[in-house]
Amino acid sequence: MPSLISANNWIRISRFRAPNKIDVILSSSPENIAHAAKSLRSGGIVAFPTETVYGLGANALDAQAVAEIFRIKRRPATDPLIIHLADPREIELVADLSNPAVRRRLQQLNRFWPGPLSVVLPKKTAVPDAVTAGLPSVAVRIPRHPVALALIKASGVPVAAPSANPFSYISPTTAQHVVDNLGEQVSIVLDGGPCEIGLESTVISLTSEVPEILRPGAITLESISKALDTRVMRSLGTVAQGAAPGPGMLREHYSPHTKVELWDRSSRAPSGRVGFVSINGSQHDRASLERYEAFRALSADGDLEEAASKLFSTLRELDRMGLDLIVVDTCNREGLGAAIMDRLTRASARS
Ligand code: TXA
Ligand code: MG
Repeated sequence: MPSLISANNWIRISRFRAPNKIDVILSSSPENIAHAAKSLRSGGIVAFPTETVYGLGANALDAQAVAEIFRIKRRPATDPLIIHLADPREIELVADLSNPAVRRRLQQLNRFWPGPLSVVLPKKTAVPDAVTAGLPSVAVRIPRHPVALALIKASGVPVAAPSANPFSYISPTTAQHVVDNLGEQVSIVLDGGPCEIGLESTVISLTSEVPEILRPGAITLESISKALDTRVMRSLGTVAQGAAPGPGMLREHYSPHTKVELWDRSSRAPSGRVGFVSINGSQHDRASLERYEAFRALSADGDLEEAASKLFSTLRELDRMGLDLIVVDTCNREGLGAAIMDRLTRASARS
């Protein structure tokens, strides 16, 4: 009997699978954006590009559509979603801005929008509990990716969207990543090319006296503190699963299936098939890396923006190689380095 993976069979299998897998990715033409917007308005789910990562969107005011997002992602109902809007003036539709101090701070953060910043504010009752996991607050963000903005505008509804990955896996930074993970369950994936930033938005809460960064991102603590002209707290971060208000605060998140370890100059050389991800290629002597099955430099010279933009796609690539271990480099937790190290620490937290 011929082997199932003989060349002929393989071609037949991939031909059989191809139409399903590829048909869902739509170019971001005005017609396709209009089609996707119509789907959102009528309760459908649409995956779309943002400057951070790809999102899985639904009408935030439609509790049933929102429930579908949780089902597709296998996301616990205790993890709240971010509402995406096209204009900061729309925030008042979903958030309660009656507190003048909150309103003033929000005004001071306006300079970062449209962009990779999500702000947690007291919520309005119009927002279904499903979106906020029953919390009295709601996270809002105005993304700057032109396709995201065009889609939200054309839909005419606030768009609740988590990252378009199965719960606790690495966020997608291309349309193909979305299809690789959720292909059978999402009927529209708008393609906007690779995400420029590559890490999820900064999440800051304005619900208490001292503003608190719940998730570090491309808008840094330093720049937020400057804009607000006040001290900003860094969230304690690593909370064990079950005790956190959201996935950004779970210790084990953003993990590839392959075990990940942070590189430590002093530790023994790992055995088995190991991949190495360097943040600054120039800091690693190639000869000493020969024992690694794969070596990837996120940046040749330690440019953190470049490194952030390649991090998730590189982890996905190595995760497909069936390695025993992925070792990742570390960097200083300053500026964008805080966001990179946050994701790497969580990716390596699985025991
Ligand atoms: O860049 C991004 O933010 C992407 C794109 C698609 O916009 N979205 C994203 O969503 O990363 P998600 O669901 O994967 O992460 C949402 C984060 C979680 O860490 C969650 O805890 C936090 O936002 N969050 C949302 N609503 C919250 C709330 N009311 N209070 C505290 N944290 C909240
Ligand atoms: Mg996510």
